[in-house]
Amino acid sequence: MALKENIQSLLAQVGELKANNAEELEALRIKYLSKKGEITALFNEFRNVPNDQKRELGQLLNQLRQETEARINELREQFEEKAAEADKLDLTRTPDPIALGTRHPLSLVREEIEDIFSRIGFTIAQGPEVEDDKHVYGMLNFAPEHPARDMQDTFFIEKEVGVQKPTDVLLRSHTSSVQTRVMTSQKPPIRVLCPGRVYRNEAISARAHCFFHQVEGLYIDKNVSFADLREALLYFSKEMFGPETKIRLRPSYFPFTEPSAEMDISCNICGGVGCSFCKGTGWVEILGCGMVDPNVLEACGIDSKEYSGFAFGMGVERITNLKYRVKDLRLFSENDVRFLRQFESC
Ligand code: DAH
Repeated sequence: MALKENIQSLLAQVGELKANNAEELEALRIKYLSKKGEITALFNEFRNVPNDQKRELGQLLNQLRQETEARINELREQFEEKAAEADKLDLTRTPDPIALGTRHPLSLVREEIEDIFSRIGFTIAQGPEVEDDKHVYGMLNFAPEHPARDMQDTFFIEKEVGVQKPTDVLLRSHTSSVQTRVMTSQKPPIRVLCPGRVYRNEAISARAHCFFHQVEGLYIDKNVSFADLREALLYFSKEMFGPETKIRLRPSYFPFTEPSAEMDISCNICGGVGCSFCKGTGWVEILGCGMVDPNVLEACGIDSKEYSGFAFGMGVERITNLKYRVKDLRLFSENDVRFLRQFESC
């Protein structure tokens, strides 16, 4: 009979109903479920069905209406999901901020050293990393066969690839070379701080590296005394490690200073009482210093009778080790972000 066949043919199509947009979906609803829709028309027909068939056809009709509604709802949900997705895309939003990198601990410490000395009138001077023997050793009073030259294992640069001829081009092994550059190009008074990378032919380990960083200080004027050196270094140590910090100068030897000294600070970990870090002594060494040797002044064209000066040199890695307890030098050049991110808030 016609009604039953109509219902069944519509039922067979329900699963196939499709709509590409909200309008097409509404058209489907109108086509089947509105007052003039096909299913509503079947319900109207149903009123005239003989009683004995009402039960079977009624069930079929209800099934048809429910399945059609369910299919239309399912399609509507798909549209709503898509619309919600589109809503999430807020084209007026400012772009995500680019994640900023962190400052490298060695840069942090170098800048702190620069800041501290700039407050007492030091300006920054720089020199080349590829240097010549004259500026790194000769003018700094290292005699040609002076054993002090062996203190630093120097990287010499071959002039011809693979040909190891004697050469005076080298990678600077200390930033003291910038002293000679400054003294030959500026007239006293000179008050400079020379930060930079230096190179030594060392096997890489936790305690040694083939490159590291130094900050050199140089002050030349009339009547500069050892007391001035001591005061400048005491001021630096207190600024860097805290006002309780004490310093101790021990006699030492460098070819370019006379007298020369090495400076210790009271251990910033135990406060000078003695701990494993300072090996129970209460002191840790941080730099070398001294009065600029008159030979160096003269080699650079400065009259040593009129002028005197002091110099000092420190390792940035050493200061960083004391400040941030980074003991393994390799961490500074491995670029491991897990290490570097720890300095985010510094
Ligand atoms: N140049 C020395 C080094 O690399 C450090 C140094 C010591 C620098 C004494 C100085 C100084 O200016 O006076 O070990």
